Amino acid sequence: MKILIIGSGGREHVLTWKIKQSSLVKKIYCAPGNGGMAQIAECVDLKDTDIPGLLKFAKEKKIDLTVVGPEAPLVLGIVDVFEKEGLKIFGPAKAAAQLEGSKVFAKEFMHKYGIPTAPFRIFSDSKSAKDFLTRSRFPLVVKADGLAAGKGVVICKTLEEANCAVDQIMQERIFKEAGDKIIIEDCLLGEEVSILAMSDGENYVVLESAQDHKRIFDDDLGPNTGGMGAYSPAPIATLQVIDEVEKRVIEPVIAGMREEGTPFKGILYAGIMMTAMGPMVLEFNTRFGDPETQAIIPRLKNDLVELMHGSCEGQLNDVELIWDKRPCVCVVMSSGGYPGKYETGKEITGLEQFDHDSRGFVFHAGTKKEGEKILTSGGRVLGVTSLGNDVEDAIKNAYEMVEKIHFDRCFFRRDIGAKALRKTNVVGRL
Ligand code: AMP
Ligand code: GLY
Repeated sequence: MKILIIGSGGREHVLTWKIKQSSLVKKIYCAPGNGGMAQIAECVDLKDTDIPGLLKFAKEKKIDLTVVGPEAPLVLGIVDVFEKEGLKIFGPAKAAAQLEGSKVFAKEFMHKYGIPTAPFRIFSDSKSAKDFLTRSRFPLVVKADGLAAGKGVVICKTLEEANCAVDQIMQERIFKEAGDKIIIEDCLLGEEVSILAMSDGENYVVLESAQDHKRIFDDDLGPNTGGMGAYSPAPIATLQVIDEVEKRVIEPVIAGMREEGTPFKGILYAGIMMTAMGPMVLEFNTRFGDPETQAIIPRLKNDLVELMHGSCEGQLNDVELIWDKRPCVCVVMSSGGYPGKYETGKEITGLEQFDHDSRGFVFHAGTKKEGEKILTSGGRVLGVTSLGNDVEDAIKNAYEMVEKIHFDRCFFRRDIGAKALRKTNVVGRL
């Protein structure tokens, strides 16, 4: 099979790495890819949102399966366009990707189908939103409706903060039309966990759990980032928790989307808060998480291409996922200054020594290949990942690898996995 992988992050590198292991695969193209993907596949210079360009390429090259990494092309409807032309593509159609593309859609859907989530109100003008805020108790969460590159959620401790968030989103329009509507919802307390499922529109399989580290600094301090590290499984996601999330979230979403006439195919990512009232949904993504995927996929033993093919063809019934019992930890190395301003073009050294490591992998995100050199080209640069006999061992090996990789002004958190270590004796759902 010929495969086209769309995207350029660590998530897409781990997907490429895994897909390359499939005996079904002859050739892999990545659009646009990155420095790491360029070492194992052929990169083509097409933007992930250039749907006409990607379609033309897939037709010319007779691509058998296209895999979409990021949310933007899904929300723009790339799956509908490819399927109309008879091309196989892994991911949800535009109407189903609304679960991520519109928080208003997702909240109304959850409300309709009784899926546990924070109580909320929807506003389409700033005056009504601010009137509501004067009558509210804090903290509260203000969210822009549409895609905002992970920056559209503001946790507000005071009325002033909330008014400011409403102004920025609705008056200054910092997220443009993504802020035409907002959600104001209760602030939930608890620990977060990511539960991903793969669906074919009717059947689904639940993947192993993972936990992200969204803040830039140790101990979850500082501004939010795309994710500074992850581990899988998340000890907090016990068998009982996974079972509850499956019954109360995954199953009703898949059934509800079918009932709405917009079946959900692809990856359903439920961002869950473990509250005193049980698991509640913070958000849905309609794709693999980044960096969660770097921690989950190295543990998957099944052929990923077979699974993705099964999702496209409605054949995920009877599929059983097989997992490496070893936990996996991914430490993100970023450019100094990220998530604010940072410099790029720094040479990365020390990468070659891990080429033959059987349990450690360096997944590239913001990198590019220039001649024989690998240079930094983004905020999150590398996902240094290791399996381990236990979490402690995985953390130790990942950080030993990190210490051997160098680039100017590199930054990483030193506490990835620490939360998992504090919860001993639980090994996910195995
Ligand atoms: P989202 O873009 O909806 O994933 O939200 C980003 C992050 O904001 C989540 O991962 C949580 O850390 C936080 N968040 C979102 N909604 C809430 C909420 N209702 N209560 C507390 N934290 C929230
Ligand atoms: N790591 C969070 C996300 O992929 O949205």
